[in-house]
Order: sequence, then structure tokens, then C-alpha cells
Amino acid sequence: MGAVVIGGPASRTQARRLAEELNLEYVPVEHKLFPDGESYLRIDADLRGKVVLLCQGTHPPQDRHLLQLLMIAKTVEERGASRLVAVVPYLAYARQDREFLQGEVVSIRVVLESLRCAGVDVLLTVNPHSPWALTSGVLEAVSVDVTRFLARKVAELLGPFHLVGSPGKKGRSMAESAAEEIGAEPFHLASSRDPLTGQVTVRAEGIDAAGKRVLLIDDIVSTGGTMVGAVRELLGLGAREVVVSCVHGLFVGDAAERLVKAGASAVISTDTVPTDHSKVSVIGEVARAIRERMELG
Ligand code: R5P
Repeated sequence: MGAVVIGGPASRTQARRLAEELNLEYVPVEHKLFPDGESYLRIDADLRGKVVLLCQGTHPPQDRHLLQLLMIAKTVEERGASRLVAVVPYLAYARQDREFLQGEVVSIRVVLESLRCAGVDVLLTVNPHSPWALTSGVLEAVSVDVTRFLARKVAELLGPFHLVGSPGKKGRSMAESAAEEIGAEPFHLASSRDPLTGQVTVRAEGIDAAGKRVLLIDDIVSTGGTMVGAVRELLGLGAREVVVSCVHGLFVGDAAERLVKAGASAVISTDTVPTDHSKVSVIGEVARAIRERMELG
């Protein structure tokens, strides 16, 4: 019996930290790439009867990281683990959670089915794009919401903010909880994306931002298009300073540089996707969620 944390190649640092937080043995995965780009993986540990927390994010390169997750999971199952919890700090393919245009692949469904087939009993992830898409019953899923934690940590790092805003449909509740956490005023940014071109339009109307310190918060910054639009709108309304924060900083291409160029005074993300902007670690929050919800034997 007992539990161990296995660190997949995508999330070794986070896995080690998780093992420390939970006071569990850390099991590394030996990994190398064959000359043709395929992954070689080896787990040299006795997993029989153990609860295994397999930590492997699926941030870019998503396809490689996802396949590694599935291959390690299947091997853990075959090696006789009693329960397999996939700890996936960033869950890829979660944004295509419905058929927007007829015939589109609903990728999140395929990912969940694949995890189940690979032997995963529980999926634990951080701020998935659509928490509801994980509750389809394919497998047990736990979503850890770090919105409040992130806002608190950013305010600790950079000082108090007058306003906290967030774009998109989920933005209203995200801004409200973040603002409540740090004693600021929430606001919502209307945003829409053209499903064909991907072009984002952000509108910040009726917000009294003049002379104020503004914290923008979102679950994902990918191309940065949404946040660049938001920063420009806020600065156009006379904001004194605009800080961009997000849970998952994918920062595709030069997204972070474009945010700074647009006028953001800082760009901060968590360590669900490890980058130079990962100034806030959420592994303590992940460990807390595991302790609260799971029997580790
Ligand atoms: C959308 O629902 C998300 O919350 C983000 O606003 C979006 O994914 C950001 O994408 P991008 O950085 O490409 O504008």
C-alpha cells in the first residue's frame, strides 16, 4: 500500500514539489527521444497496490505530452497500481468542448475517453477551460480553481489594485472572486472571437479606469490577442497601470512581448505551464485539493 508521485517528462519540477508537499516518494520517469522524435519512457519502480499520482502537464508540445501521459498511465495500470490519479496542471484540447461548426472534433471528449482507456481513474486539473465538460461521466474529474490564490499572490508581489477585470463569458465570475479576494472592484470585459478567423474583439465600456491600477486575470493566455485588446482598452480609458495575469500562460510565439508592447507593466502566470513568467506556483493548492479529496492509503 501507500502512494507515490510519478513525474512525467513535461512536469518534473512540479511533480517533485508535489511529492514534497504531500510527503510522498517521488518516482522519476526515465525519458529520451529517439532520433525520429518518438519518446522512450521507463518507470523503474514497484507500483503494485500503490496509489499513483502521475503528474504530467499537456502544455505545448501538446501532442507529445499527451501521448507520453497516456503511455505512462497505461504502464502504471499494467504494473498493478491500485488507483491512478492523473495530475495534469494544464489540460490541452479543453477549449474545443463542443461542435461550434458542424463536423468539428470535440477534442476534450476524445482526451477524456483516451485517459480512461489508459487506466486513469481520476483526472485532477487546474482551471480547465470548461469545468462542465469534465463532468460528462467519462471518468472522475477534479477541477482546482486557483483564481483567488493567483489574485492574492499577484497583489502580494505587486501591491494593491483598484480594479480587477476579466474577459469572456467566464470573466464575470472570475473577476468577481479575484476582486473580492484582494479588496478591489470587479469589472467585466466583453469579448468575442470570430470562429473562422480567430480574430478577437474586446470592449471595455463604462469602466471608470482613469488613474487606477488594474489587474487583468484570465484562465489562459494563448496568442495574447484577447489580453492585448484588453490592455489597450484599459489604457485608452486612462488606467495608470495594467498588469496581466493568467493561470495558464501558453504565450504562443511572442505573445508576452506583445503584451508588454501594448503597455502591460507586468505579465504573470502560474507554473501549470512552466515559462519565465511562471511567478506563482499552484502546486501547494493542488496538494491541498488532493489531501482534501483523496485517500492516499
Ligand atoms: C477564452 O475563453 C479564454 O478564457 C481566453 O480568453 C482565451 O483562450 C485567450 O486566447 P488568446 O490569448 O489567444 O486571445
